[in-house]
Amino acid sequence: MFGRDFVFGVSLSGFQFEMGRACPDSVDRGSDWYLWTHDKLNIENGIVSGDFPEDGPNYWNNYGEYHRLAAYSGMKMVRIGLEWSRIFPSPTFDITDVELEGICDRSTLEHYRKIIKDIKERGMKVVVNLNHFTLPLWLHEPVKVNRLSDFTAGGWVDPRSVEQFRKFAALCGRELGDLVDMWSTQNEPNVVAMLGYRNRASGFPPSIIRPELVEVARNNLIEAHLVAYDELKRTSDLPVGLIYAFSWIDGEESAVNLAMKKTQFEFVDRISNKLDFLGCNYYSRMVVESDPSSDNGYRTLRGYGQNCEPNSLSGYGRPTGDFGWEIYPEGLYNILKMICRRYDVPVYVMENGIADMADHYRPYYLISHLKALEKLLEEGYNIKGYLHWSLTDNYEWSSGLGKQFGLIGVDFSDGKLTPRPSFYLFKEIIGQGTVKNFEKMLATPYRIFDTDLLIE
Ligand code: BGC
Repeated sequence: MFGRDFVFGVSLSGFQFEMGRACPDSVDRGSDWYLWTHDKLNIENGIVSGDFPEDGPNYWNNYGEYHRLAAYSGMKMVRIGLEWSRIFPSPTFDITDVELEGICDRSTLEHYRKIIKDIKERGMKVVVNLNHFTLPLWLHEPVKVNRLSDFTAGGWVDPRSVEQFRKFAALCGRELGDLVDMWSTQNEPNVVAMLGYRNRASGFPPSIIRPELVEVARNNLIEAHLVAYDELKRTSDLPVGLIYAFSWIDGEESAVNLAMKKTQFEFVDRISNKLDFLGCNYYSRMVVESDPSSDNGYRTLRGYGQNCEPNSLSGYGRPTGDFGWEIYPEGLYNILKMICRRYDVPVYVMENGIADMADHYRPYYLISHLKALEKLLEEGYNIKGYLHWSLTDNYEWSSGLGKQFGLIGVDFSDGKLTPRPSFYLFKEIIGQGTVKNFEKMLATPYRIFDTDLLIE
């Protein structure tokens, strides 16, 4: 059993959900990602999909229906994201703390208050995350960085970013702290640093290959978390955490050790003295081997983890979804066990899900990952909740609208929501408080959960 105090819910973010064709007032043109996804050259070069975020699900206006469906399914927690560019449409560089209230966008804050209140009135708790990939354009002009190496507004490699984030956190704490249940400062800072400065194909702004900047961005993100933590603590004693992209790593031992250290623990170790909870996002594993020619010393193998063909079988015989990510729930079990042993804070799974428009594999995905979690809880690990990614389809960054992660499907022409079978399955599991009655599905037609792959 998951136990009475364990919470189920969903995670959403700002940029991926808020805008929608049906409502022009939902559109925010002020962020780096907005510019990036509209850039003609990026579209022509296939760096981004050519889909636009303003054709997205329209949570900004339709949030009541989202929350109604979440509450109906028995969920008790919703994570949302705030868009920095909406709250501060103009720069805060020369603005003192006392002047922040004067230049923030009041109507945006009022709107976020309405959204949060609506979640709470439906009996659910709310986790508010301050930064999910997007930055205001006045802090990050990714096209200029990418094409002209012009770092005038350099985003997370800009030394001014930490102080501006501190101000943003301070204002959010003061304006919204009375409604929030838990704060998260950042979502997946490791992804922001790695994909932005070490990977062109990801389509992640600014998409440049300057490995030395990965470290610069990472250091600023760490500092930003630390100062935001202090700011949020100044206004209340609410728990403040961070959400990190974890993975499980298999493969050649020396490469595994290297990758584990670099990608899994280094960042969190450095903030662990200012962390009241840790959010773990987990989708699949990585399989690595040594590669002295890579600046990291290792590379990932094709055919495993997040490096497979879409809708196929991995080298290990596991099904993959529309993104080509291998279903590997044993990795969630293993990494959560390591996290719980390493960090003395409550852990929440804050994202876990699969791009699967047909909802073919999602039932297996859900059942197998919840089985991993239930097993850990029964072994006594300090895991407090599971938030699925996500409630509905949304705008999947550079991949646009075609990669659909929703328990509920969205008709992007009018925002209409249609629950998929997995939605009802999740509702049923939440209601039963255990996944045990569904486990037999994991043996046919795929053998998805293999206890031999679990660490001691
Ligand atoms: C991100 C989400 C994204 C999901 C699926 C996570 O890395 O936090 O924004 O939609 O993965 O790709």
